[in-house]
Amino acid sequence: MKKIALITGASSGIGKELARIHASKNGDLILIARRTEELELLKKELEEKHAIKVWIFVKDLTSKNAAKEVYEFTKSNQLEVDYLFNNAGFGGHGFFVDRPIAKDLEMIDLNVSALVELSHLFLQDMKKRKAGKILNTASTAGFLPGPLQATYFATKAFVVSFSEALAHELKPHNIGVTALCPGPVKTEFEKTAGMTGGNLFEKAASAKSTAEKGYRAMEKGKVICISDPVLNILIQYIMPFIPKAIIPGMVQKMQTI
Ligand SMILES: NC(=O)c1ccc[n+]([C@@H]2O[C@H](COP(=O)([O-])OP(=O)(O)OC[C@H]3O[C@@H](n4cnc5c(N)ncnc54)[C@H](OP(=O)(O)O)[C@@H]3O)[C@@H](O)[C@H]2O)c1
Repeated sequence: MKKIALITGASSGIGKELARIHASKNGDLILIARRTEELELLKKELEEKHAIKVWIFVKDLTSKNAAKEVYEFTKSNQLEVDYLFNNAGFGGHGFFVDRPIAKDLEMIDLNVSALVELSHLFLQDMKKRKAGKILNTASTAGFLPGPLQATYFATKAFVVSFSEALAHELKPHNIGVTALCPGPVKTEFEKTAGMTGGNLFEKAASAKSTAEKGYRAMEKGKVICISDPVLNILIQYIMPFIPKAIIPGMVQKMQTI
C-alpha cells in the first residue's frame, strides 16, 4: 500500500532529498516550507517522474498555530500520515550574548517546538493505527556543547534526547522514531547559519547521501543514525574518553570562521 510522508523543510537540502527518495518508492507526499515556488517545482518534478500525488502546504512553522494548521490541512484532505519527517531547522553563528535573542528564540520555535507539536499531533493517529514512523533531523551537534552556536547545538541535543525517549515509549505501539544526526552537509544551512567562509563545510557530505542514510535507518527501525562514518566513530568510541572540560574549547575552534 502507498505510504504518505509529510516532510517539513522540503524546499531544499536534506528535506528535498528525503522527498525524492520517498517518491522513488512510490509514496505520496505532503511538503511543507515557506517558499512556494521551490515547493511547486519539486511537486512538478516528482509527479512527472513517478505515479504519485504531492500536496504542498506553504507555512512558516514558527508562526502561531502553525503545527495545528498543518495537521488540519492533512485532515481536510483526508490524508493519513504514515511517515513524519521533522526536518526543518536552522542554525546561527556567533557568541550567544552578541546574537539577537529573537533569532535564537525563533530557532527554538522551529527546531524544537514545531517538532514536538507536530509529533504530538500525528502520533495520536499513529497510535490508533498501531503503525507509523518519525524521522527527526537532529545533528552530531546534539552530542556536544557548541560555543559559537550554543542555542543550535542545544536544540539538537533536545532532538536527540526526545527521539530516544519517544522511540522507547512508542515501541509497544509499533511506531518507530529515528534521529538522523549528520555532520556538515552541503545545503543552504551554511549560508543561513552565517558560516560561509570557514572550512567546516569543505568536506561536507551531500544532502542526497545523508537523506539516503536517514531514510534507510528509519526503515530499519534504528533509533540513532550518525550518517558520517568518521564522526560516528569519534562520537561513539573516542569522545567518551576525552575530558569533558576540554570539549567546549575544541568545538569553538572548529566553529571559528
Ligand atoms: N547542513 C548541515 O550541515 C546540517 C548538519 C546537521 C543537521 N542539519 C539539519 O538538517 C535539517 C535540514 O537542513 P538543511 O541542511 O537541509 O538546510 P536547508 O537547505 O537550509 O533546509 C532547511 C529547510 O527548512 C525550511 N525552513 C526554514 N525555516 C523554516 C520555517 N520557519 N518554517 C518552515 N520551514 C522552514 C527551509 O525552507 P524555506 O526557507 O522555504 O522555509 C528549508 O526547506 C535542519 O534541521 C538542520 O538543522 C543540517
